[in-house]
Amino acid sequence: MLPPFQPDPKGPNGFFGLPSTWSHILNPFENGVLGRFEGEIPKQLDGTFYRIMVDPFYPLAPVNPVIEGDGNICALRICNGRVSLKTRYVNTERQRLERQASARLFGLYRNPFSHHPCVRAAVDSTESALPYAVDPDTLETLSYDPFASPSKTFSAHPKVDPFTNELVVFGYEAKGLGTPDIVVYVLDAVRAVREEQWLRAPWPAFIHDCAITPSFIVLVLWPYDASVEKMKAGGQHWTYNTSRPATFLVTPRRRGPNSPPPKGWAPEETHRTYHWDHTLLLHTAGSWEDPTTGAICFESSRMFYNVFPELGDPTETPFGDMHADYVRWTIDPSQPGGTVGEGLRMGYGEVKVSGRGALDEE
Ligand SMILES: [Fe+2]
Repeated sequence: MLPPFQPDPKGPNGFFGLPSTWSHILNPFENGVLGRFEGEIPKQLDGTFYRIMVDPFYPLAPVNPVIEGDGNICALRICNGRVSLKTRYVNTERQRLERQASARLFGLYRNPFSHHPCVRAAVDSTESALPYAVDPDTLETLSYDPFASPSKTFSAHPKVDPFTNELVVFGYEAKGLGTPDIVVYVLDAVRAVREEQWLRAPWPAFIHDCAITPSFIVLVLWPYDASVEKMKAGGQHWTYNTSRPATFLVTPRRRGPNSPPPKGWAPEETHRTYHWDHTLLLHTAGSWEDPTTGAICFESSRMFYNVFPELGDPTETPFGDMHADYVRWTIDPSQPGGTVGEGLRMGYGEVKVSGRGALDEE
């Protein structure tokens, strides 16, 4: 394997001495990631791996977090020991407008007040808006909002229920910019919206991922606050808030006459909220229900720093102490929650992240 690429330290941005508006954070070589691997591809592998990323077509407006950009899909087709690649941008309305203008028209991540006046009413293309349908073979963009979603937003991480083949979806800021409204529903095998529920978050929070079990969905709230006033003043959509605890919003997957409320819940209770000390659960992993206790169990990464320095205190060192680990959460939904630690346990479970970054059995 090749050693990590070393940028030219003499340049103003390290780009071979040439100035650049591209963010350093987008350059994997500057973050110690090896760029090339060698070896044989097993002939038994046969299928397509899709990589879906944010990839800015035009350089970002300054002070944008790494999650801002355009949707890009990469299809890696693996067959008979060989790989072929196709990559396309999602042909969003936003990108069509920018390509027409040959310039970047959109400003800060999810701040419409920072966009060029000619595009302030245009749609976005991430979890801040609704999805596009894309042909899985050609990667051509087919349509916007193929599921006729009941809200204005669609999660970046919907989950497939392996027992029912449903797609479990949520959307936050679901009634518009800075609203605490959340929608939860499933898309069935014919793409019909079912089990639609509306909830209100304790604050307009960044809700990037969730965990599902046969009976529950757990929404994981990140410790960032949204402020429309700050957006109007040209600031960021989100502000990192160290006083926010890790927050888990739990709601039953199904309601109605055939789905009684969970044990100990009043019929009118829509959800319960559980808390842990301040931390950021970047993504979830496996999730299940304990068959003996009925507890909700799931695993996640846990970060002890602001992963988006642009959204934090500008006087603080970016990333600070980059401590992170991987943990297992256990929630007892029969407990009322509400205060830190009530009804919630955290542990390291049977697997842990080793110093080499691999998963080892304990
Ligand atoms: Fe993600």
